Amino acid sequence: MAALTALTKSLGYYCAKRSKISTFSQNFPSHNSRFQTLRTLILEPSLSESVKLNRISDYDSGIVEVNLDRPEAKNAIGKDMLSGLRHAFEAIDRDSSARVVMISSSIPKVFCAGADLKERKKMTAAEVHSFVNYLRSTFSLIEELQIPTIAVIEGAALGGGLEMALSCDLRICGENALLGLPETGLAIIPGAGGTQRLPRLVGKSIAKDIIFTGRRIGGRDAMSMGLVNYCVPAGEAHPKALEIAREINQKGPIAIRMAKRAINEGIEREMVSALDLEEECYEQTLNTKDRLEGLAAFAEKRKPIYTGE
Ligand code: COA
Repeated sequence: MAALTALTKSLGYYCAKRSKISTFSQNFPSHNSRFQTLRTLILEPSLSESVKLNRISDYDSGIVEVNLDRPEAKNAIGKDMLSGLRHAFEAIDRDSSARVVMISSSIPKVFCAGADLKERKKMTAAEVHSFVNYLRSTFSLIEELQIPTIAVIEGAALGGGLEMALSCDLRICGENALLGLPETGLAIIPGAGGTQRLPRLVGKSIAKDIIFTGRRIGGRDAMSMGLVNYCVPAGEAHPKALEIAREINQKGPIAIRMAKRAINEGIEREMVSALDLEEECYEQTLNTKDRLEGLAAFAEKRKPIYTGE
């Protein structure tokens, strides 16, 4: 640890507006301290043991990986893990060098088993209310990140686990994946964005089928209903996600951010206003060095080198 710390350097900040993120202050303090980073690892002392934040180095610099690692509970999200997730995504939000995020699991055959049902059993209704609000706002934070996010799903993505994946821009699963929202079987409803993001993704009718029955859906079926972008042979979701992350990482960073904003915000507007938004986002790319670099690289028949300026 000391050796790692000696190699660290400060991670740059930039401020991002966050309007509607609620807090769960007694259990989830805000983390305003400076983060330390390595070429391959962002270290922060109060990060949960269950959530690792890895920075991929050298050629893939710009790709950041949030890795879920709570083997004893199949990555179920309890207070500690939620605090770690929040902290990780806030750190990414402040990191102007981050270009793409992958969310993955180090636990075989499971992405995330959803809410920690053992911890939940000990909570009062008021505590559950606060916890679910904080979970919902944390997934909104993931959705609102300016850079693309990819969920890497091998095995089970259930309840909050699927809701986390739904808050990502892309989902890539192995054939052994099992996706589902089993909440109604527990006499509750998906409460961390599932009732809203699922129908927006797959349509109202399919979303109702999935939520009313709580059925677990295999990778291939998930692919055919548009729940995931890619379904690959079991064990190959991570390399596939990395391949996609690399493709994105080579594009103009401002263009990627503006494309995400135009799509995410535009889809919620009527067409005239949405096209105005597209114009506004296009404008942001016009006076950039990267736009000129793209044209120069085309003329010189070489790969562009984008700096995000
Ligand atoms: N909360 C708390 N603990 C959980 C959990 C959850 N959501 N999901 C799994 N665990 C625990 C199990 O209780 C078990 O603990 P134990 O060893 O003390 O009994 C341990 O993780 C291993 O689980 P197990 O069911 O034996 O593993 P599996 O590989 O056979 O199945 C799952 C994995 C994820 C498919 C299965 O555990 C499951 O269906 N979990 C519940 C998922 C769920 O309903 N989530 C929705 C929450 S709203």
